[in-house]
Amino acid sequence: MLFQPPLAPQYAEMSENERAERIARHKLAFGDRLVILGHHYQQDEVIRFADFTGDSLKLSQIAAAQAGAEFVVFCGVHFMAESADILTADPVKVILPDLSAGCSMADMADIDQLEDAWDYLAKTTAEKIIPITYVNSAATIKDFCGRNGGACCTSGNARLILEWALRQGERIIFLPDQHLGRNTAFAMGISLDQMVLYDPALAHGGLTDHQVEAAKIVLWKGHCSVHSLFTAGQCAEIRAHDPKVRILVHPECPWEVVQQADLAGSTEYIIKVVADSPPGSSWAIGTEVHLVSRLADRHPDKKIRSLAGIQCLCTTMYRVDTSHLLWTLDELAAGRLPNRIVVPPDVSPGAVVALQRMLDNFSASPIAAK
Ligand code: 13P
Ligand code: SF4
Repeated sequence: MLFQPPLAPQYAEMSENERAERIARHKLAFGDRLVILGHHYQQDEVIRFADFTGDSLKLSQIAAAQAGAEFVVFCGVHFMAESADILTADPVKVILPDLSAGCSMADMADIDQLEDAWDYLAKTTAEKIIPITYVNSAATIKDFCGRNGGACCTSGNARLILEWALRQGERIIFLPDQHLGRNTAFAMGISLDQMVLYDPALAHGGLTDHQVEAAKIVLWKGHCSVHSLFTAGQCAEIRAHDPKVRILVHPECPWEVVQQADLAGSTEYIIKVVADSPPGSSWAIGTEVHLVSRLADRHPDKKIRSLAGIQCLCTTMYRVDTSHLLWTLDELAAGRLPNRIVVPPDVSPGAVVALQRMLDNFSASPIAAK
């Protein structure tokens, strides 16, 4: 995780209204020079200033289209800002308001581990393996995938990308989210016994050569700590209390949860499904709490609550607050460039290939709509 120095005390001392007024004034003054992007898990206080909101796929597409802006302030987490830097032209400066807003899942795969895994897989099978990385990963991992015939995916297009990958080769290594990989492959008709779990902490991933030879999909042992809080037991409990409830989850949830759910898809998909549902419908949603609360506020005519009784909060997304957003804009207005995210030139070319393969060929599709 990168280190974000503490802000001057004045930012915490200001009222929320004062911060909001000052952010709004900056936006007006910067005009078209500034674009603020907001992921759906951001707090309402921040989201209200976003020029565009979206899931990872939509925000990548929007970032790629920002040729005219001078500054793209990304209210999200580090891997999203890296992707935006990779996809924008050099003069566009991408900024993350809090450098410590990382993603614990992205940190579960590093390039040395992936190179070890790749060497081992190459020794165990002569068949062509395609590396596919969820965008929730470091630029070095994307670069590796781009250089080795693979691509990125998001939760919005994972199925289309896996289908593409299986047309390019016989096997896939999918990282870093085992759950997105397993849920997507299973929805495509690949059985669980055709998938193996590679643990980067163990020699040879903890697998035998025979297990690798028999596998179609090698899943990396990574997960989202937020979505891992949802359980199949919660699904059973909520259905027992509310037989009409529909359960709608993000595909980063464990396989057992997705199996119990009615629908699974990206944050953008979740928003659309709820918006399109009839008044009076009842929803239990398995994703980050800020999005669930926003949906409940936006649709008072529907019954909307979290699938979990506990608060499933992405603590790193939450670090981007109005204090950090205002500080960022104050710095820019003073002619400084805080927290610019720059992907090193030696990593960028392969990462561009991996991201561009995804964007050129695939739009969003839910993975497991039943
Ligand atoms: P989406 O692309 O569905 O918004 O998911 C991003 C993410 O990090 C979910 O945890
Ligand atoms: Fe990462 Fe999970 Fe937070 Fe998404 S919700 S940014 S996967 S930690």
